[in-house]
Amino acid sequence: MARFSLTGGLFGRKGAKKAAPARSAEMTVLRPTTREPARGSGAPVLPRFNTTANDQLSPRRGDRFSVLRSKIRRAFTPSQPVADPRMFAGRQQILKTIISSIEDQRLHLVLYGERGIGKTSLLHMLAQAAHEARYIVVYTSCGANSNFDETFRAAAADIPLLFHSSYGPTTSEAEGGATLSDLLPSTPINPQQFSDLCTKLRGTRVLIMLDEFDRCESATFRRNIAELIKNLSDRLGRVQLLLAGVAGDLSEIVEHIPSIRRNILAIGLPRMTDAEVLQLVAQGERESGLTFEPAASKLVVSVAQGSPYIASLLSHHAALAALDDERTSVLAQDVAYAVDQAVEEFENRIARLSRSQVDALMEGGRAEDLALAGRVALSLNGAFAEKDLVATGEADEARARSIMKLLKDNDLIRPADLARPEAKTVSFVEEGLPTYFWISWTQKTLAAAPPQSPRTAAGSAG
Ligand SMILES: Nc1ncnc2c1ncn2[C@@H]1O[C@H](COP(=O)(O)OP(=O)(O)O)[C@@H](O)[C@H]1O
Ligand SMILES: [Mg+2]
Repeated sequence: MARFSLTGGLFGRKGAKKAAPARSAEMTVLRPTTREPARGSGAPVLPRFNTTANDQLSPRRGDRFSVLRSKIRRAFTPSQPVADPRMFAGRQQILKTIISSIEDQRLHLVLYGERGIGKTSLLHMLAQAAHEARYIVVYTSCGANSNFDETFRAAAADIPLLFHSSYGPTTSEAEGGATLSDLLPSTPINPQQFSDLCTKLRGTRVLIMLDEFDRCESATFRRNIAELIKNLSDRLGRVQLLLAGVAGDLSEIVEHIPSIRRNILAIGLPRMTDAEVLQLVAQGERESGLTFEPAASKLVVSVAQGSPYIASLLSHHAALAALDDERTSVLAQDVAYAVDQAVEEFENRIARLSRSQVDALMEGGRAEDLALAGRVALSLNGAFAEKDLVATGEADEARARSIMKLLKDNDLIRPADLARPEAKTVSFVEEGLPTYFWISWTQKTLAAAPPQSPRTAAGSAG
């Protein structure tokens, strides 16, 4: 494998696309091989990083394509939340609502939504806005073993003692950099102790963000959080909590103490609108210096179905694919190639069902039906009913009924709302299934009718 192969990046192309012939000769010209053992010298050539740890391109890779490649990685970050406001698309109204409920109503916040919908990215933007307003922001990502003592001791360590009413900025303790955690006992703390401490705060406000709240397994932790919210609300504390995670588990904490409901704003983060997805692509274009042909952006929007994760993933792969072809213009065909890669990634995420079961279903002539159900589930944030299939205009009642039967007979769905069985809504048994069905079908249709582009024309001519 050539070290400087254009296909050798982290998101290598795995030979899914036919490489243009005689490319390697051109590539050698593009990428001078300083200090590289001569081909055929027998020395194994291992892949290297393109970028040094301080984000400088390594000098031997300082050609135009390396620069662009690293810009693409900054522009579309499907495996990381957005931290740079320039790359954050849409969500204006939700941010406004959250900010006003924090500052005007002093509510605590529960932000829920499926994985990849943009919760953490939104929290990052909110944290920056709060920082600007001089809030102290504590961000914690919960894990399976999160417990109250550790989490809130760490939070207290981020709050300088100078904001404690009994100390003030000129006391020796405050000047020595002490924090609220220095006032905590060495025995495990409880919600009462932490909220007592919070009521002593002056001259600042604190936002404590607990992200991935659904990952924590301890019921005691959840109960403690509910109790803390209640205490803080009763005493008009200067500390507000923001919990983010997957829906079901978050409603659970509100159930623990019904009286905290009025102190909480629960917001379900919806899928993005098409305009927001277009904005995501446009911002990435600006940052990367590549351009997406209108047909390419349109295809990203139609496949993403409002998921910023999928939009970012497709844009990322498509942009790198264009570069592999030595173009700075991204074509629909690059997006089609990106869909192939996305299918592979989603395949690997289907955990509970056997792959053979899923494949058998898809190949048994029902792929389109599954895709329709998948798309409807995605557009309704997971929970859907038979009538929603009809509402798309793509299925009549008979087909909708047969799709529901297919899903049920194969144990692909379960009741979505146990509290309201009469609503007859269902959700897929696995979060990844609707996306997988939808995107696999897209792949099939794109393979049957590949998007036309100059590259296809050039390829067939050569
Ligand atoms: N508003 C946004 N603008 C641009 N990209 C976004 C936005 N929200 C999410 N993304 C992208 O979507 C992916 C998932 O976002 P993330 O915030 O990690 O979701 P969650 O926390 O809900 O799982 C990330 O790749 C991120 O880059
Ligand atoms: Mg997240």
